Amino acid sequence: MSRPLKAAIIGAGGISQSHFDGYRAAGVEVVAISDVDAAALARRLGEWGLERGYTDNAQLFEAGGFDMVSIAAPTAVHHPATLAAAAAGVHVLVEKPLALDLTLADEMIEACKRAGVILMVNHQLRSSGPASKARELIQAGAIGRVTQVRLRQAHDWGGLLTVRPTFAKRSTSGGGTLLDNGTHLADLARFFGGRVDEVYARIATLKYDVEVEDTAHASLAYDDGALGVIETSWTATGWEEGFWVYGTEGALECTNRYGPSYLRHAFRASPGSNWDQTDVATYQFTGASAHVRHVMAFVQAVRGEAPVVCTGEDGREAVRLILTAYESAARNAPVKTASVTEGSAA
Ligand SMILES: NC(=O)c1ccc[n+]([C@@H]2O[C@H](COP(=O)([O-])OP(=O)(O)OC[C@H]3O[C@@H](n4cnc5c(N)ncnc54)[C@H](O)[C@@H]3O)[C@@H](O)[C@H]2O)c1
Repeated sequence: MSRPLKAAIIGAGGISQSHFDGYRAAGVEVVAISDVDAAALARRLGEWGLERGYTDNAQLFEAGGFDMVSIAAPTAVHHPATLAAAAAGVHVLVEKPLALDLTLADEMIEACKRAGVILMVNHQLRSSGPASKARELIQAGAIGRVTQVRLRQAHDWGGLLTVRPTFAKRSTSGGGTLLDNGTHLADLARFFGGRVDEVYARIATLKYDVEVEDTAHASLAYDDGALGVIETSWTATGWEEGFWVYGTEGALECTNRYGPSYLRHAFRASPGSNWDQTDVATYQFTGASAHVRHVMAFVQAVRGEAPVVCTGEDGREAVRLILTAYESAARNAPVKTASVTEGSAA
């Protein structure tokens, strides 16, 4: 039987809970956490029943005693914490976006490679039941050649009249809905459709008093000629998250409007099927959330039982796609992804 694995978590804020839940589901003990905010640290130590807490990440790594770490602190912390983890020989699951700067992303990837540790990015939508099944169907040829990928995340902050200051200010957020919601979708765009050659984006600030955009879309042209679109918004009413992948032989659709974790596969096999009457296969996924599944997949990769679901390179490409979209919006012109080799969203 393999040795029991242990984990640490950097950052004790909102998203850290799903990392903790994921490790628990994977049978990995979380032994230590760190947060620069002593009150946030104390709260989580109490909630999770832990003894080892640090307000300094250097002390966390110095004390050691864990095989892997989740970096669930603000994005600016991802780079220094990943380098520290690599130096300590600890596997890394880092939150999205990997970094706001491609040079920093490269350094993170390189440091983990040199240290021989795994770097996985928390684009957890890849691990959701519908997305992983959709990818499996696409790869099996179930919808023929992919022609169009449409991705949407839209909300209105739960009806709030103002946006949280860290999201509203460019210096702390790096960008608005295109970055915050869009990096997940940029990752899915590649997960479903492959390499994106060119992006044409528009952004606008239409509802909230924020320094960043609250409404955005980006048109994608894939290497193989397929098209895609990313739609993100803080000016919706309610919450919609979904993807639609069309192919020459069928379509895959997933939106929370159908209910959580539901995938619809439309195809034409029966004779006499009509405009809106096609053959349909549906999949309903129960059990753990995408977040928990993603952490479990990370643990499987650390154990050497499965490949890394979302690599550092994947995380870097998602950032690059968003940087390309920002450049396109600024120039009001299509921009080749390959032309964006450096730069920062901040
Ligand atoms: N995968 C997702 O769907 C998802 C969802 C939300 C947030 N995120 C990402 O997770 C990260 C954290 O977001 P959050 O919503 O939990 O933010 P948060 O503000 O709720 O929590 C962040 C915590 O990190 C702490 N922190 C700040 N600097 C630190 C440092 N140097 N070392 C250790 N801790 C430090 C803060 O004190 C705070 O408690 C961000 O990168 C964000 O983009 C991802």
